[in-house]
Amino acid sequence: MKILHITCSPRGEQSVSYRLSQRVMDRLLTRHPAAQIVTRDLCAEPLPHIDGAYAAALGGGARVGNGRAVSSHALSERLIAELRDADYVVIATPMHNFTVPSVLKAWLDHVVRIGVTFNVTPEGKAGTLADRPVYIAVSSGGYRSGERARQPDFLEPYLKALLPTIGLKNLSFVSVQATAAGPETTTAAFAAVERELDDCVAGA
Ligand SMILES: Cc1cc2nc3c(=O)[nH]c(=O)nc-3n(C[C@H](O)[C@H](O)[C@H](O)COP(=O)(O)O)c2cc1C
Repeated sequence: MKILHITCSPRGEQSVSYRLSQRVMDRLLTRHPAAQIVTRDLCAEPLPHIDGAYAAALGGGARVGNGRAVSSHALSERLIAELRDADYVVIATPMHNFTVPSVLKAWLDHVVRIGVTFNVTPEGKAGTLADRPVYIAVSSGGYRSGERARQPDFLEPYLKALLPTIGLKNLSFVSVQATAAGPETTTAAFAAVERELDDCVAGA
């Protein structure tokens, strides 16, 4: 039993999204005390962006790893293996400029790989990963959903569109919004989300 815990805030353990994801982790670990945790702090150890040779090899349909050195390849293989091996995936992400932080985008560019985690079919992209629960803990300075939202949200729709293309369809989002309104609002938002957290890991 493995849990892959991905975090991508520059604020480390002070981070709201990290603390929210930790509540998901606590619940999963209560159910699976012997679970092995694999952590990826994408800010503490940022991934390099994919390189030119790798992009060219993917775009041209050439087999990655053949011929010219493809330096992103080994890293992509390792990240995909980590994802493939995980029984549960927990992603902690703040909203940055209406969407995911660039460090999370870099991770996605390594794991969403044609011919490996998805294939192109006449019906569209078909994922090759076995489905499993993916919990996504999101924090945002303002409201990003509901009547009080005054900004577009490209984060949740983006992940809802992209992750199923590699086979990950069992997505649960939990949110703490309006952190910029101050600590009291954030504390209240954490309290309000408890029940939702219980529900979303109930079947885990
Ligand atoms: C570069 C940057 C861009 C941000 N863009 C947005 C945004 O578009 N919308 C929003 O509501 N909050 C935005 N924020 C605020 C964060 O989402 C908010 O502070 C969040 O609670 C941080 O979560 P964390 O503690 O997990 O890092 C941004 C923060 C940073 C640093």
